[in-house]
Amino acid sequence: MEPWNTFVEGDNLDVLRRLARSGRPEHRFDLIYIDPPYNTGSAFAYHDDLRGTDGLRAGRHRAWAEMMRPRFEVARAVLAPAGAIFVSIDDNEAAHLRLLMDEVFGEANLLAQVVVNLNPKGRQLGRGFATSHEYLLVYARDARACVLEASSTEAVDPADFPLRTPDGRAYRRLPLRNTNKKFNPVTAPTMHFPVWGDPESGRVGVEPFAGAVEIHPVFGDGRPAVWRWSAALIAERPEDLVCRPVRGRLGERIDVFQRDWLHPGRRKKLTTIWLAEEIGSTDAAVAELKALLGHVFESPKPTALLRRILGTMPDDVRVLDFFAGSGTTGHAIVLANLADGGTRRGLSINSAEPTRAGSNAAREGFATVADITRARLQAVADTLGGGYGEMPLDEVGPDPSGTTAAPAVRPTSG
Ligand SMILES: C[S@@+](CC[C@H](N)C(=O)[O-])C[C@H]1O[C@@H](n2cnc3c(N)ncnc32)[C@H](O)[C@@H]1O
Repeated sequence: MEPWNTFVEGDNLDVLRRLARSGRPEHRFDLIYIDPPYNTGSAFAYHDDLRGTDGLRAGRHRAWAEMMRPRFEVARAVLAPAGAIFVSIDDNEAAHLRLLMDEVFGEANLLAQVVVNLNPKGRQLGRGFATSHEYLLVYARDARACVLEASSTEAVDPADFPLRTPDGRAYRRLPLRNTNKKFNPVTAPTMHFPVWGDPESGRVGVEPFAGAVEIHPVFGDGRPAVWRWSAALIAERPEDLVCRPVRGRLGERIDVFQRDWLHPGRRKKLTTIWLAEEIGSTDAAVAELKALLGHVFESPKPTALLRRILGTMPDDVRVLDFFAGSGTTGHAIVLANLADGGTRRGLSINSAEPTRAGSNAAREGFATVADITRARLQAVADTLGGGYGEMPLDEVGPDPSGTTAAPAVRPTSG
């Protein structure tokens, strides 16, 4: 049986190209998570010849983006049509990364830029603000087809749904009016139309009916607004709407609300700020790794962060991490499968980057970061299960630098 975790040692661009060229269905991934080097100036080797006239900093950003661009292009090729990619990044490259990903994945496919509070005390070294967060950029391969569900595994709090229909169904009211000031009759003219509602019964419709008054969408200051639902949707789902008198700055008026139902098993929507108390901290991540292998990697991610990411996708996804480092993604896959009976599979890739001479890792006998990745994935399999396998580079797929034999020329008839 295929192990839950597989590891490939190699430069990720080479491995990604082989995966893409292999054409094998198991080499298409529903979820990609990466945590690339952050280009802090020391960890990332930039090219001197790219400094140009923009100066060192601009050259460094350009070199970083040039390193990442082809990797994203091939990553997109191995991402399943309904898949999504999550990328960790800090302030050094967040802006450049977002532009780059807009180019490769399309601006319309940006699902979120999440703030991840991995260092709750804040960075105490250096001048200025004590930075306590970094980011997670989330893009779909195709936002319309993506299966990602931006909710946590926690259930919603029933207290947030305090209203009841006469037959006992719980709901809360959400304004049908679009409260985002960007949307108004000029920017969204088709969403500005009157509806009809009876404030006594609460009934709403798109045509006049006995007892109904005409209702226009307006902002609190009386300026015209637009609805969130089209007239066709309102006509289709009258049960999900209710109107009632509201008291605003300009006196009483009738407004329309969506009934947002408390369905059994409804999960909490994820916000775009993830706190360390929910997803762990870098300190917690170091402790997790220490318990398995020792203090052999400086900046691992906490497994709880990866489990939250995994929780947004179905439980049988194929996951790829091509900057695997200490193997956190693979570890989280095993924890998630054990917790919910899922069948996720992970492929981790890391290069044979030598560990720093004199570092804990080198002292513990890890000559390369790849040795750390495989040691953690093996230790996870030994202690928790799920199995572990390693795939030699030449079994991943055809060598991208090799030339494919030209197809034989067939004589044309006639
Ligand atoms: C920030 S670390 C990832 C840490 C990981 N998320 C964790 O929790 O341990 C980035 C990793 O990418 C690896 N790396 C850098 N360039 C690479 C390349 N071209 N191919 C494969 N791995 C690479 C480095 O060895 C490093 O381990």
